Amino acid sequence: MAKILVRNNGPLKGRVKIDGAKNAALPIIAASLLGTEPIILEEVPNLVDVKIILKVLESLGSKVEFLSENRVLIDSSKINSFTTDRKLMEKMRASFLVMGPLLARFGKAETFLPGGCAIGSRPIDLHLKGFKILGADIKEEPDKISAKCEKLVGDTIYLDFPSVGATQNIMMAATLAKGETIIENAAKEPEIVDLGNFLNKMGAKISGAGTSTIRILGVEKLKGTVHTIIPDRIEAATFMIAAAITAGEVIIENCISSHIKPVIAKLKETGAYVEVNEDEDLILVVGNKNIKGTDIKTLPYPGFPTDVQAQFMAYLCICENHAKVTETVFENRFMHVEELNKMGAIIATSGKEARIAGVNKLIGAEVKATDLRAGAALVLAGLVAEGTTTITNVYHIDRGYNNFVGKMKALGANIERIED
Ligand code: EPZ
Repeated sequence: MAKILVRNNGPLKGRVKIDGAKNAALPIIAASLLGTEPIILEEVPNLVDVKIILKVLESLGSKVEFLSENRVLIDSSKINSFTTDRKLMEKMRASFLVMGPLLARFGKAETFLPGGCAIGSRPIDLHLKGFKILGADIKEEPDKISAKCEKLVGDTIYLDFPSVGATQNIMMAATLAKGETIIENAAKEPEIVDLGNFLNKMGAKISGAGTSTIRILGVEKLKGTVHTIIPDRIEAATFMIAAAITAGEVIIENCISSHIKPVIAKLKETGAYVEVNEDEDLILVVGNKNIKGTDIKTLPYPGFPTDVQAQFMAYLCICENHAKVTETVFENRFMHVEELNKMGAIIATSGKEARIAGVNKLIGAEVKATDLRAGAALVLAGLVAEGTTTITNVYHIDRGYNNFVGKMKALGANIERIED
């Protein structure tokens, strides 16, 4: 199993280019199943999770061809299966996003309960609620879900929670349904907007993506298109925090600042300097040795992103005073607390809250990544810890970050990856 070794090497300096967004690429790749003609996707990030969902599509009969490292041609005109591969499904929760497209285009889909990180029970009840309201018969077995329908029929669906995945799956299913579908209390993340734009370029009729109410008018079929995936706001936030925690000076390239406003605001509250250049999609972050503790509370977009909670917590560990982190989106997303405390942090959790007493320094230790963002958080802590930090289970990091070590090294980090 590979591991990452990090040592304190002072302030990070330089420029880093952000890749395409994992959480936009995954639903858009699933949505390409709806197309009766070839689709070309650009800025597709080179990630383990992307490779998994492309394999799911191939197992269903799609033709997948990498035209270059980040350009992929997908031709789903000849799908010949409606049952997803169990092993692939168990590897990644987002594979469940193929359910909506298969149901919409072929009237049937058989898939296995999604796997994914251990950050919570990750139910799919809202996805299934939407499919049922659109007219699908759903058969739930202990680890398998089968769905079938003559033809989906548009209706109004209220989401009890603005679930990103449920919004995406229902949006995709509704594109070929008869009549209009309205999703109330929909998720508003930028990745929902990117998916909506992609589907509209294929000929769908979607309005309101990015707001709480999304309307989808069903059409007969969807054609091919070319689409560029939006930049990854979570990868951008991770490198912004790397600059701040090391009191460095880093320019983040290919980042849409309006997608990451809460993180910019919170970094400024801690005393970091953040300058945005919207015309060129650049963000400059200059860290400050004296980090003022501030509280963060994760919320659905446009609130503070849960996918940046662990990284920001690592940063708050060395604040001058104290801070509170409240995680409202997932019920078990504090597994990195135990690992950070092994490095000398002082964090106590109680339910959704983690209270942090800032310390002068962290100490290198052997720690394990417990999910992809927690793994990134441990690297950030290692950048400022005394001695060497050894991070195991780094396969988590590979799911969401391409060349994470290489990009950190280019900014001056003393970091290396050891393959066993
Ligand atoms: C997406 O997961 C992201 N993954 C996650 O990113 C992200 O943390 C999450 O949205 C929230 O922003 C992808 O886009 C591939 P949800 P998703 O459905 O769709 C509950 C990362 O680090 N819920 O919005 O699975 C659920 O239990 C990953 O890149 C239901 O109750 O998230 C959770 O508490 C981690 N019933 C909350 O909603 C449902 O049917 C948010 O889940 C669905 C969800």
